[in-house]
Amino acid sequence: MVMSAYTLIYGILVYSKVCVMVVEVVVGGFFGDEGKGSVVGYLAIKDRPSICVRGGVGPNAGHTVVYKDKEYRLRQIPSGLVYKECRLLIGPGVLVNPDVLIGEIRNYGIDKSRVGVDERAGVIDPEHIEREKESRHLKEEIGSTLSGCGEANVDRARRILPLARENKKLREFITDVPSEIWSAIDKGGTVIVEGTQGTFLSLYYGTYPFVTSKDVTASSICADVGIGPKYVDEVIVVFKSYVTRVGAGPLPGELPKEEIEKRGWVEYGTVTRRLRRAAPFNFDLAYRAVRLNSATQIALTKLDVVFPEVAHATEWDELSSEAKRFVEKIERKLGVPVTIIRTGRDIRDTIDRREELCR
Ligand code: GTP
Ligand code: IMP
Ligand code: MG
Repeated sequence: MVMSAYTLIYGILVYSKVCVMVVEVVVGGFFGDEGKGSVVGYLAIKDRPSICVRGGVGPNAGHTVVYKDKEYRLRQIPSGLVYKECRLLIGPGVLVNPDVLIGEIRNYGIDKSRVGVDERAGVIDPEHIEREKESRHLKEEIGSTLSGCGEANVDRARRILPLARENKKLREFITDVPSEIWSAIDKGGTVIVEGTQGTFLSLYYGTYPFVTSKDVTASSICADVGIGPKYVDEVIVVFKSYVTRVGAGPLPGELPKEEIEKRGWVEYGTVTRRLRRAAPFNFDLAYRAVRLNSATQIALTKLDVVFPEVAHATEWDELSSEAKRFVEKIERKLGVPVTIIRTGRDIRDTIDRREELCR
């Protein structure tokens, strides 16, 4: 009797641990631009984190968040800015362009006391951008965003890159990001860790040499902000309902421009404004991404672009049977629940199945 009561309580504890939000890491599962910004924006409003922290490469990323008719295009500030109560931090592994950061704070009227940059973050100088612009290899062969990230990472590897703690423009934002995160965890707060780019742009796991200048899978994103693997509760891998890629490199199943237009999948890069190449959802890549990131959940974006009849749905039952079959096929083939489904531009256009599937 005592034993079974113990087993029951233990069972409830173990079961309810799954998907209870403490530290959630959000990363891209394809070639970037999966809509991570909108997923993080949604999670921030819903899960009310103490901290939203950016990992990843730096201002080569462009994340878009639309909330209540306001659009935020972010290259440095974490997408959790829409939830006004959370700290907005940039981890030590992330490169900072002070002018881009300060520009975003000004443009979007962000309270400066919310923003913190780790003292060890590397700083991009105009010279890094110039060096990239002069590189025919980066410009023409790789299709780099030319935002100085690769050259700054070269200098970091050579140990000559200036750090944030030496930069006058960043003085008021300097903090120790890992300590802030550990303290939030100790108090039982939620922390959202936001990755950039996507799994197949990783320097290690991507389509080398057509990749970015760092690994961007979940393990590296955690290292970027100062948390070891055991602190992580959920890894949410974001897939768009089709695949896009900006810049050069292989894209299996790539569609001709006319077909992209016909399907209504036309998109332009947030940072470079280049037309994104596109292909149908790729289950093989998605399977690798699930493994490489140890995904516990999948967020699926732009379902309304592939199935226009589901636009603005916020409940599973509002989806058409064709759309449901697509989602179920993803779950079956990848073995991971699709917990977040995005159905429109505004972050409120979201179906959240975490209660149903995880708790
Ligand atoms: P990340 O770099 O992954 O953050 O994505 P991004 O912001 O570069 O992605 P994208 O350009 O695809 O997203 C930009 C636009 O798409 C923004 O205006 C978003 O509001 C919008 N968007 C995001 N998710 C959805 C969705 O599920 N449906 C639709 N229709 N639009 C979306
Ligand atoms: P870089 O990191 O700017 O040098 O760019 C290297 C490659 O990664 C190029 O193909 C870029 O288009 C791509 N890339 C870098 N950052 C992003 C991003 O945030 N979204 C999509 N592609 C990116
Ligand atoms: Mg983007």
